[in-house]
Amino acid sequence: MKAIVITEPGGPEVLKLQEVEDPQIKDDQVLIRIAATALNRADTIQRVGRYAAPKGDSEYLGLECSGIIEAVGKNVDRWKVGDQVCALLGGGGYAEKVAVSAGQVLPNPSGVSLHDAASFPEVACTVWSTVFMMSHLSEGETFLIHGGSSGIGTFAIQLAKYRGIKVFVTAGSEEKLAACKDLGADVCINYKTEDFVARVKEETGGKGVDVILDNIGGPYLQKNLEALKLDGRLFIIGFMGGFVSEISLGIVFAKRLTIQSAGLRSRSPENKAQIVREVEENVWPAIAAGKVKPVVYKSMPLEQAAEAHRLMESSKHIGKIILVVP
Ligand SMILES: NC(=O)c1ccc[n+]([C@@H]2O[C@H](COP(=O)([O-])OP(=O)(O)OC[C@H]3O[C@@H](n4cnc5c(N)ncnc54)[C@H](OP(=O)(O)O)[C@@H]3O)[C@@H](O)[C@H]2O)c1
Repeated sequence: MKAIVITEPGGPEVLKLQEVEDPQIKDDQVLIRIAATALNRADTIQRVGRYAAPKGDSEYLGLECSGIIEAVGKNVDRWKVGDQVCALLGGGGYAEKVAVSAGQVLPNPSGVSLHDAASFPEVACTVWSTVFMMSHLSEGETFLIHGGSSGIGTFAIQLAKYRGIKVFVTAGSEEKLAACKDLGADVCINYKTEDFVARVKEETGGKGVDVILDNIGGPYLQKNLEALKLDGRLFIIGFMGGFVSEISLGIVFAKRLTIQSAGLRSRSPENKAQIVREVEENVWPAIAAGKVKPVVYKSMPLEQAAEAHRLMESSKHIGKIILVVP
């Protein structure tokens, strides 16, 4: 088969479409002929050599895909050859075929094209497993999403609104904030021109928000704690601003705050399967009802993976970038 290969760690130009060996399935896996994959920020970190695939997963890029089942292992009974599906992957999406544990596969969501379905598994499983499963974000609460226009953010806004949550977002331009508003965000904050802590306090009568989903890390830690309400929960999923921070723990104690962080990719196949089943139960109905839609900024052919990485690293995009496999 053909796959995008990282020929050496480096810039987007190191990504080349090459002929590689076909993946072999194990008894509990299925083989998917890939229709599309979607980019994630982590792909750009893997490309520069700082985020290797977990042991046992494909070494190729790509944390999610959609496609058609081409073969099933002998212990798999849920899926059959010809099923249209999408899947959460530990790697291997930037290719014509991938072998994946049957538990990480989801049906193609109703009303969504097979190509657009590739935009859902990683964001749905990340958002569900963090702020919903672990931070227990609930109806009637307030929720601040940093990077509201990101792939993660555009999905999180829609799912939170569907579940009756008041959504605050930050983003770095008026165009990005307008897109967040169109998706349902209630309070849109341009972090380049406004102090998000002051605005959150102003909008919440001085109380702060219940839950924050953060992609910045170190530089935002103290401010995030200040923007949280009593008993507030901070979930850090990314460190785009860096890992290091010095904070006063007094605020954590005084406000009874919870700080959590986790990565999806390093979880075991069993753990991923549990998240995937919860996503199918709780998120797929929202997609089928048209309440959560794919937000696709651009679809490009797989061979243009380098161009797609340049686009993602420019941060011009709003939502997801898709690579279509011919
Ligand atoms: N823990 C997990 O399991 C998990 C899973 C998936 C994703 N993530 C993390 O979630 C975050 C969002 O991922 P994504 O794939 O949705 O990303 P994305 O679509 O590329 O969006 C990232 C956005 O972050 C903003 N940003 C803030 N600081 C930035 C900086 N220093 N450099 C570049 N952009 C910056 C940009 O918007 P502005 O112009 O508004 O600043 C950019 O559009 C990433 O940190 C990713 O690693 C974590």
